[in-house]
Amino acid sequence: MTTSRHKTHHGPSLTLLWQTSLAQQTKVFVGGDELAKLGAIVGQTRAGEKILLLKQPTLPPMTLAKIVASLGDKGLSVSVMEVPDGEAGKSLTCLNNTWERLQELGFTRSDTILAVGGGAVTDIGGFASATYLRGINFIAVPTTVLAQVDAAIGGKTGINLPAGKNLAGAFYFASAIVVDTSLLATLPRRDFVSGLAEIIKYGMIEKTIANESEYVAGPKPLFPFLEECLDEHFAYDHVALPGIITSCIKMKLSVVAKDPQEKDLRRCLNLGHTLGHALEAASDFELSHGEAVAVGLVFATTLGIKRNKIDKDNLPRLTSLLKRSGLPTRVPASISVEKLSKAILHDKKRQAQAIKMVLPEGAIGLVDYHADVNIAEVDQLVADFLSD
Ligand SMILES: NC(=O)c1ccc[n+]([C@@H]2O[C@H](COP(=O)([O-])OP(=O)(O)OC[C@H]3O[C@@H](n4cnc5c(N)ncnc54)[C@H](O)[C@@H]3O)[C@@H](O)[C@H]2O)c1
Repeated sequence: MTTSRHKTHHGPSLTLLWQTSLAQQTKVFVGGDELAKLGAIVGQTRAGEKILLLKQPTLPPMTLAKIVASLGDKGLSVSVMEVPDGEAGKSLTCLNNTWERLQELGFTRSDTILAVGGGAVTDIGGFASATYLRGINFIAVPTTVLAQVDAAIGGKTGINLPAGKNLAGAFYFASAIVVDTSLLATLPRRDFVSGLAEIIKYGMIEKTIANESEYVAGPKPLFPFLEECLDEHFAYDHVALPGIITSCIKMKLSVVAKDPQEKDLRRCLNLGHTLGHALEAASDFELSHGEAVAVGLVFATTLGIKRNKIDKDNLPRLTSLLKRSGLPTRVPASISVEKLSKAILHDKKRQAQAIKMVLPEGAIGLVDYHADVNIAEVDQLVADFLSD
C-alpha cells in the first residue's frame, strides 16, 4: 500500500494506492471534500464514457447534483437509478433491474457503476459490477460510517436471498473508493453512532494487525486516541474523523491483502460479532448492527477476563468509551438467555462442538482470533454475562 498526502483548503486529504490480491489496483481517497474531485477521480480509472449511478432514496438532491456536475464536467454521461432503501435494495429483483438497465444503456466492460450510499448499495453495486459482462468498472462512494470503514472496503460484494443475508456474492474490487466525511452530515445520529462501534473494534485489534500485516500504526494507538476524542459531541465535522477513518481503512486493506478469503487473520475483524450477530437476530433487528457489536465487544472482553487472557481493568475502559460514544454495553432486559444462546449456536462460525471466537488477549489492541468456546459453555457464559 502506498500513501500520499496533500493539503487542500478544506483540510488534509489522503490517497491510498492498494494492490489487491487479484492483481487489481484500488485507489482510496479520504478527506472532507473528495466529492468535488469525483469527475477527475473517475477519469483516472479505466472508465469508459458511461456511468450508472446507483443511489438510495436518502441521498440529498444537492449531493446528487454535485456528483452529476462533477462527472458532467469531464464529459461523462450519467444515468441515475434509485434502489430501494436498506436490505430491500440487496435483492435479486433489484440486481436483475440493474442488469437490464445496463443492457438498455449499452454498457461495455470499461463503463462504470458508481454506487453512492450505505453498505447496502455498495454491496449490490459491487455485485452488479462483478457479474455484468463478467466484470465492469466499479467505483464506491460510501455515505455511512459503517460503509466508509467496513462495507465498501475489502472487495466483498453481494445480495440477500430469501433464505438469508449475503448468500450470493463475489469478491470484486472497486477501482476507486471515495470517502468524503462531509457526506455524513445528513446521517441520522443513531446510524452515525452505530458506525463508531466498528471504529472502536478497530482500536481493539490494531496491534494484532500491525504485528501480522503491513499495517503501520500511527504514533498514538487508535484506542487511546478514541478515548481522547469520542463523546456525545463527536460528529461528522470533527477534525480527527478523516484520520480515524483512514486508520480503519488501512487496517482493513492490510488484513484483506494478507488473508483475502477469511481463512486466518481476517477473522480478527469479527471481534464482537459472535454475540453481536446473535443479538441483532434475537432483538428482531431492533438493535442496529453497531449497537449489537458494541455489546458483543463487552461480551468478548468479559470472556477474555474470565479466561485470564486480559486484565480486568480493561473492561471499565471499554464500557466507558462505548457509553460516552452513545452505545449500549448490556443486553436489553427483554432478551432471554435461551433466545440469545440459541441465536449464538446458529452462528456460522460454529464448528463441531465449539464456536470460534475472537477474544482480547494481553492488552487492548491485541486479540486471539482462534479461541474455541465449547458449545456446553455457551449457555453458562451468556447467563453469567446477563447477570453481571
Ligand atoms: N461487503 C462487506 O464487507 C460488508 C461489511 C459490513 C456490512 N455490509 C453490509 O452493509 C449493509 C449495512 O450498511 P449500512 O449500515 O451502511 O446500511 P444501509 O446502506 O442500509 O444504510 C443505512 C441507512 O442510512 C441511509 N443513509 C445512507 N447514507 C446516508 C446519509 N449520508 N445521510 C442520510 N441517510 C443515509 C440509508 O438510506 C439507510 O436508510 C448490510 O447490508 C451489510 O450486510 C457489507
